[in-house]
Amino acid sequence: MTSEGEGTLGEALDGGMVNAGAVFRRGSLVERPAPPTARALHAHLRALKEHGFDAAPTPVQLTQDGRERLTYIPGDVALPPFPRWVMTETALRSVGSLLRRLHDVSVTISVDTLAAWPQDLADPEGGTMLCHNDVCPENVVFHDGRATALIDFDLAAPGRPLWDVAMTARYWVPMLDPESAAALHPAGLDVPRRLRLLADSYGLSPQQRAELPRVIEQATASCRAFVADRVADGDPVYTQVLSERGGWQRWDRVQEWLVAHREVFMATLTD
Ligand SMILES: Nc1ncnc2c1ncn2[C@@H]1O[C@H](COP(=O)(O)OP(=O)(O)O)[C@@H](O)[C@H]1O
Ligand SMILES: [Mg+2]
Repeated sequence: MTSEGEGTLGEALDGGMVNAGAVFRRGSLVERPAPPTARALHAHLRALKEHGFDAAPTPVQLTQDGRERLTYIPGDVALPPFPRWVMTETALRSVGSLLRRLHDVSVTISVDTLAAWPQDLADPEGGTMLCHNDVCPENVVFHDGRATALIDFDLAAPGRPLWDVAMTARYWVPMLDPESAAALHPAGLDVPRRLRLLADSYGLSPQQRAELPRVIEQATASCRAFVADRVADGDPVYTQVLSERGGWQRWDRVQEWLVAHREVFMATLTD
């Protein structure tokens, strides 16, 4: 989509909800509202790069008016309803291994404990590694059907690596009851099989596998609270999406389904 102001603002990039309509591409750069933690986040993104992780945007500048400039990462980003190419097993495995690559470098970088990391989607149990927390399809760049980069670290916060895997599973397996999944995803996705594929491609330990189903339930509760906060604040984008996607009833259904299938997921992950 091209904005009327191309040349001044640049090309408007679709895909986000938090910064909907406020992200622009100008040649090799993206300009978007800077998150409150931009300084600490930019330092973290630079450290990732210095330690060899090249699959995230490089911060270039913070402007006086509260915006940030980062490198644009060429490739394909899927938007809902998600096309089949982004929900293949190859795509899923590539997301799992990309997240592992991110974490292998992130654990070596000390987190700025003075920064006010957003608590919205943060691991309630805390942790020492900076998690991305929002690895949804709209925040992953693909090339030839494989994930090549993660973008939009706005909700990054310290947490357990397993928390990030749980958040990623929610979106990529996806951890949704069949009715909810049908609204956004191609038909016929085998949830237990895909959950196992994600765990294998990430390389979860036996203990993490046993914990994952409950952490997914915890992460789902945090996502629901995130939406509830925005709706309570009168955010028009979240209010509209909530009503289009079945309201709180859908969240009830997803949460009940997760509990009802906990043992099935546990068995597939650990057998
Ligand atoms: N650095 C980047 N490289 C490539 N595409 C990007 C980049 N930043 C944003 N985009 C595109 O713009 C869309 C919205 O940007 P994003 O920063 O994720 O906004 P939001 O914070 O609203 O989720 C993304 O889904 C992606 O398609
Ligand atoms: Mg985004």
